[in-house]
Amino acid sequence: MMTTPSIKVGIAGVGAIGSAVAKALNEGIKGFSLECVSDPKITTDFGVVNTDFATLTNRCDLVIECLPANIVPQLALAAFSANTDIIFISTAALLTYQQILEQLGKSNSRAYVPSGALCGIDGVLAMKEMGINSAQIASTKPPKGFGGAPYVTLNNIGLSNISKKTLIFEGNALEAAKGFPANVNVAATLSLAGIGAQNTRVEIWADPNAKGNMHEITVKSDYSTLTSKIENMPDPSNPKSSILAAQSIVATLRNMSSALVISQ
Ligand SMILES: NC(=O)c1ccc[n+]([C@@H]2O[C@H](COP(=O)([O-])OP(=O)(O)OC[C@H]3O[C@@H](n4cnc5c(N)ncnc54)[C@H](O)[C@@H]3O)[C@@H](O)[C@H]2O)c1
Repeated sequence: MMTTPSIKVGIAGVGAIGSAVAKALNEGIKGFSLECVSDPKITTDFGVVNTDFATLTNRCDLVIECLPANIVPQLALAAFSANTDIIFISTAALLTYQQILEQLGKSNSRAYVPSGALCGIDGVLAMKEMGINSAQIASTKPPKGFGGAPYVTLNNIGLSNISKKTLIFEGNALEAAKGFPANVNVAATLSLAGIGAQNTRVEIWADPNAKGNMHEITVKSDYSTLTSKIENMPDPSNPKSSILAAQSIVATLRNMSSALVISQ
């Protein structure tokens, strides 16, 4: 019997999310094999070569981006130059670095965006077909989860002084991505699936009593109103992330090779 060769996968950034995906690939995802990784600060041996972006994107059929937002344009350019497909998890970078989607349009690469830490994207995609009137997201996290965000620094927000649930930002998804590049990937994903960054309203709440990271979306069309709420425990290896985000990449890979495809 003929066997289909595995799709060779490279992972750029093997921190909290990338290492969980690498582990899942090494445990076995039908149709995919881990070929190499790229991370100058790698701490785990995944049994594959650790290399630069040019080699990663040329050696692999598919690369998975699990990087800090500011590094994403470099990887995207390498992937598009090699016509290699890519999965993006740092979706806020797709809004702030607009050249990424422009370059994608000129390349032969395909880019995939998993649902990440969010739920309800399946419904948003279907609602888009009938026309969405409004889309909003409210994200709530413990105050320390926003540490280092440019908006917090610029506006001198004393995160340690917040004693009750407080609205610290209100604006559109593009403004949110610029102000909170490591916190609002969910808002970026919603805007990419729905009605765009300028039209997606974002609220960011800091709550000292929040146990996890909560995202609530409300999307309205003439015929449907979607509300979804998910509460994710912070990933122990990176409190700004959630384990669900890594597993959404694993689910995307399984879907890509499954005979029965349930859209996310
Ligand atoms: N879409 C979503 O819902 C969602 C949810 C959570 C996190 N995220 C995003 O996913 C990304 C990864 O998150 P994480 O928790 O794994 O972060 P992390 O900090 O744990 O891991 C990032 C890794 O990238 C590596 N890295 C840094 N510079 C590099 C370079 N030049 N080349 C190669 N590797 C480099 C670091 O050494 C680190 O290991 C972040 O941008 C985060 O904001 C998205």
